[in-house]
Amino acid sequence: MTFLEYAPAPESRSVLHLRESYGLFIDGDFRAGSGDTFATISPADESHIATIASASEADVDTAVAAARRAYDKTWSRMSGRDRGKYLFRIARLVQERARELAVAESLDNGKPIKESRDVDVPLVAAWFFYYAGWADKLDHAGLGADPKSLGVAAQIIPWNFPLLMLAWKIAPALAAGNTVVIKPAETTPLSALIFAEILQQADLPPGVVNIVTGAGATGAALVRHPDVNKIAFTGSTGVGREIAKAVAGTDKKLTLELGGKAANIVFDDAPLDQAIEGIVNGIFFNQGHVCCAGSRLLVQESIHDDVVDRLKTRLSTLRLGDPLDKNTDIGAINSREQLDRIRELSAIGEAEGAERWSAPCVIPDNGFWFAPTIFTNVQASHRIARDEIFGPVLSVLTFRTPAEAIEKANNTPYGLSAGIWSDKGSRILAVADRLRAGVIWANTFNRFDPASPFGGYKESGYGREGGRHGLLAYLKGASA
Ligand code: NAI
Ligand code: MG
Repeated sequence: MTFLEYAPAPESRSVLHLRESYGLFIDGDFRAGSGDTFATISPADESHIATIASASEADVDTAVAAARRAYDKTWSRMSGRDRGKYLFRIARLVQERARELAVAESLDNGKPIKESRDVDVPLVAAWFFYYAGWADKLDHAGLGADPKSLGVAAQIIPWNFPLLMLAWKIAPALAAGNTVVIKPAETTPLSALIFAEILQQADLPPGVVNIVTGAGATGAALVRHPDVNKIAFTGSTGVGREIAKAVAGTDKKLTLELGGKAANIVFDDAPLDQAIEGIVNGIFFNQGHVCCAGSRLLVQESIHDDVVDRLKTRLSTLRLGDPLDKNTDIGAINSREQLDRIRELSAIGEAEGAERWSAPCVIPDNGFWFAPTIFTNVQASHRIARDEIFGPVLSVLTFRTPAEAIEKANNTPYGLSAGIWSDKGSRILAVADRLRAGVIWANTFNRFDPASPFGGYKESGYGREGGRHGLLAYLKGASA
């Protein structure tokens, strides 16, 4: 296999105007926290980006108090039409500062610039535009007559899509008339802090959105705070469980968007060239740090060898390296901890008898990297077929009949997403009907749209984000 040589095509960092250190964004302004600070680094070379405040329990209390004041005095009294104007303004400012946001996201998170530029940031703008449109139409959303906001929403988000998850959380909350305290993940706070500047530019009333940076302890303080009315969490199933316990017996509303182990099912009549691209996009998009990733490939036995050969050929052409290079397909793993987890589960896969193949690519000296990897001869009982790896690792299993495909696909504690590849529309519908997954893609994968609800079954969590359904989580007495 020969490789095409590409000249470096790095995106310029000159659009970024970063501060050396960032405080907490509370009541419309940045202020020093009363807790420690920590560094955010680039996972591509471990270089220091900025110093970040770690919000203490007292800081969280200040932020919640600011959100409560803003709720009582301004936001809950404002007309939906006026709330919508702010959301439209935020959406337009995100578009204006799109390049800067994309560079910041790729720098802090490690994802390829072509993804942050073409997927993450455009979707962030789309989410704000979409929910801006709902702000003055809540009465007509079919969610009951005169639905009311809840109050202060506490939102905790992960590091895999830092700005997009922020948009998924903030846009519906504000459209429905709530105020927000949000906590970004500790490895990726940067884009949220630039977003805080956008809120200032948009002249959003102080306290309507507060951003408290920090790690798990900050998140836990936010969850426990007695003056919070609603908690929205995206992250690991373990932390989701802890949050559900902490909230039990209170009247806080809770939505959880947790992990997944999605089946991507390829039938022998599938358009194979498209399916190969879909499989690659399903598991290698964003280094596989995707809760709805198609991490279990279920391929019909008769085409198994052909599919695996084609996949290896395709993966050998992917370019791994500098996230800011426009030609990069596979960026850095977000953190050393995540890299350790991916390595550990992959080693278990080999020890359990699955066959490992990794794409031949040059791994940079610094930073956190993992070559795109495929496991074949995977049994349904293997850890790599059951646990969420959350990295660029695909487990390949086979099936003979549609019934067996459905049974294997559903044989998981999760139920977030699935994919079906087939030429037959009737088969796609019949199979989709029997899959226990919140989102099912047909002849495509990892497609997102603000109008489409997203969420899971079983250990993947509860509640829906996106679409009209996404408003439900932020309204009192509403039902779909
Ligand atoms: P995590 O669940 O620890 O982190 C997610 C967010 O929760 C972060 O903002 C974190 O600071 C916060 N957090 C941590 N402990 C908390 C607590 N006790 N109370 C409140 N907030 C808390 O996830 P982590 O450790 O970064 O990743 C572990 C695994 O979780 C990954 O390997 C992956 O399998 C899964 N994961 C799933 C995500 C999804 O999109 N569903 C996103 C991130 C991770
Ligand atoms: Mg970082």
